[in-house]
Amino acid sequence: MHQGFLPFAMPDISEAEIDSVVETLRSGWLTTGPKVGRFEADFAKYVGCQHAVAVNSATAALHLALAAIGLQEGDEVLVPTMTFAATAEVVLYFKARPVLVDCQPETLNLDPDQIEKAITAKTKAIIPVHIAGQACDMDRILELARAYDLRVIEDAAHALPARHRGKMIGTIGDITCFSFYATKTITTGEGGMATTESLEWADRMRIMGLHGISKDAWKRYTAEGSWYYEILYPGFKYNLTDIAAAIGLEQLKRCTHFWEIRERYAALYNKGFQDVPGIITPYVAPDVRHAWHLYIIQLDLEQLRIGRNEFISLLKQENIGTSVHFIPLHLHPYYRDTFGYRPEDLPTASAVFERIVSLPIYTQMTETDVERVIETVRRLVRRHRR
Ligand SMILES: Cc1ncc(COP(=O)(O)O)c(C=O)c1O
Repeated sequence: MHQGFLPFAMPDISEAEIDSVVETLRSGWLTTGPKVGRFEADFAKYVGCQHAVAVNSATAALHLALAAIGLQEGDEVLVPTMTFAATAEVVLYFKARPVLVDCQPETLNLDPDQIEKAITAKTKAIIPVHIAGQACDMDRILELARAYDLRVIEDAAHALPARHRGKMIGTIGDITCFSFYATKTITTGEGGMATTESLEWADRMRIMGLHGISKDAWKRYTAEGSWYYEILYPGFKYNLTDIAAAIGLEQLKRCTHFWEIRERYAALYNKGFQDVPGIITPYVAPDVRHAWHLYIIQLDLEQLRIGRNEFISLLKQENIGTSVHFIPLHLHPYYRDTFGYRPEDLPTASAVFERIVSLPIYTQMTETDVERVIETVRRLVRRHRR
């Protein structure tokens, strides 16, 4: 018997978020204002960083981070091929070059062994992506960055609240960029945050994120503000609204609780699949706290008579939504045609791509939903084993 469709992801919005938005709408201040200020302060406290700059997406945060470190046309930035479009496209905004780096087969994270080979005299930065919410090997990445004088901009779109050797993600690299997209571990609808220990970089990101005009430009319509402003740089329009921050403030209060549910569901999945030949559960490195934004299994294709695509179709027929994170960048037409990448240039990501499936993991699911996914996956694998 078929049950209702279980979506791959869904936001968790309570009455507190709704009330907070309504209160903001009634307050007369919709765009960047006091709520954004509070959201930045609360986020900085939660993560334990000095400065947090709220913006309207992680993509914007990544763009501003590269602007803050002074990326120039012709520079190179090391970007994992196993990531979303955003991580590399921001490099292209500068007419700089994203140099794609292969992943580790188990964690899907940037492979530190491949980084050094990709460094040239033009390399300015590395953008590690903490895939699924599992921290990259930051010790080795920082060591390489120090040795070659590179900046480290972390793409932590998946990694709230993640830790690496006890340190919160958001306090480790030069600048860290979080996403509050609707499916992320906390959401503001669309939104993002850049964290850093450097006041200079934080200020630059604030200025560039609001048209390159002098600091606190958002205050110009308040009693304490002034009509006068100066354009210091050609900036962008990346500010977060108070309406979005109103959601974020409430989501942040629930962040640890959300994480506990995700971790519990990940443990249920791990247990449910531990004795299933054909399914490889996510490897978790020692000394990390996984945020479990995603739960990515790998199919052991040697044991199965079906491929990943058919597996996904069969799950869909069983009313279970899944996804794939990610189609490696080098396999996309733009990167293939512009830079001449071939699948064999980044062999681990090319191979692993054929095996990965992201299963639903979110707080709006029940344990019964998790059990249903486990039971269905086990049944499909049993039926299609070699
Ligand atoms: C790894 C990664 N980086 C960046 C982004 C972009 O985030 P946003 O949609 O907030 O710009 C995403 C979004 O899914 C992502 O998965």
